[in-house]
Amino acid sequence: MQDHLTALDVRLRDFRLEDIPALVEIFNRTWVDEPSTVAQEEHWEKSYPKDNPRLRYAVEAGDGHFIGLGNCMRPFWMDAPGVYTLDIVLAPEWRRRGIGQALLARLEPYAHTQGAERIHTDCREDFDGSIRFLERAGFSRIGIRFESNLDLDAFDEARFVGAFERVAQAGYELTTLAAERAAEVIDPDRKLYDLYSVTAADVPLPGDVHIQQSYDNWRSGMLESPTTDLAGIFIAKSADRYVGMTSLELLKDGPAITSMTGVTPEHRGRGLALALKLLSFRYLKAHGYHETRTHNDTANPPILRLNESLGYQRLPGWLVWEKSLSGEPTTATPD
Ligand SMILES: CC(C)(COP(=O)(O)OP(=O)(O)OC[C@H]1O[C@@H](n2cnc3c(N)ncnc32)[C@H](O)[C@@H]1OP(=O)(O)O)[C@@H](O)C(=O)NCCC(=O)NCCS
Repeated sequence: MQDHLTALDVRLRDFRLEDIPALVEIFNRTWVDEPSTVAQEEHWEKSYPKDNPRLRYAVEAGDGHFIGLGNCMRPFWMDAPGVYTLDIVLAPEWRRRGIGQALLARLEPYAHTQGAERIHTDCREDFDGSIRFLERAGFSRIGIRFESNLDLDAFDEARFVGAFERVAQAGYELTTLAAERAAEVIDPDRKLYDLYSVTAADVPLPGDVHIQQSYDNWRSGMLESPTTDLAGIFIAKSADRYVGMTSLELLKDGPAITSMTGVTPEHRGRGLALALKLLSFRYLKAHGYHETRTHNDTANPPILRLNESLGYQRLPGWLVWEKSLSGEPTTATPD
């Protein structure tokens, strides 16, 4: 494989912090409508857990410029025994020359020697080239995560008259993490983490895996990212207990994204998710956002129904793929 890369005058090397601007440029030419920033990627780089197993290659062209990345690692944000994840992205003009295949030929054996039985990856439903690449490499589709967007300018809150009164009458209080910190509530971050952990574990993901984050990892992703505003993290309280939340990821020069909405099982079906999302729309409109997005799993009818009633429109989703390294069949069949 190195021969093939040598013939292309391309080499693999360690990823460096200085590669981040070029990586962001490739990301933003690939996933145009949800742009990243150097600040965001630097934040992820800094908060990556140092002891997590990972093999990562930067791809460099003969003239020394960065043209892509291949990454295989243990998914530290999930409870996913036997699973490693794979990400490859190349600058568009360097695709279809066998570089993706050369990366795969190194990353896959790494996962295997680490004891992984399955590799997971994902790609956008409308990326035909990526789909062909993964099929050719022996991956099978195991699910899809829907993505949808809402036009905030056209959204009319009046359709949901009574939503706030309903939860207030049932004794709930709606607030934000910023307000809770200002009110000097004892350890609001930890209370929110506990709520997140309980509800995120219930999010159905393809491939028999569940979200499970350490407190530090969760803090850096949800509370400390450059896309976070603590006044954009909404909480429903019952007495002083946190029972519901919705959080926003605020992309710079892009749409807002609901990163997580969760209500504890005993408080579901009482309009909390609706009221929290309505509050988040008010926040977004006040902060000049015109579009908000959400990513949901196919097998999650309650949130899909809620989003449909709010007026979200379906966008191309993310296909989830699996390759078995053990010779066993994949864990699930496509939706
Ligand atoms: C997916 C991706 C990494 C593939 O890398 P690549 O270097 O272009 O792929 P390769 O040249 O090694 O392709 C290997 C085989 O996959 C298939 N393939 C790859 N791209 C294809 C395309 N655009 N159309 C049709 N088939 C394609 C072909 O069978 C190809 O072999 P061939 O050229 O001999 O016919 C690249 O397209 C990319 O960066 N996409 C955006 C990021 C992404 O979606 N990543 C998801 C996978 S982790």
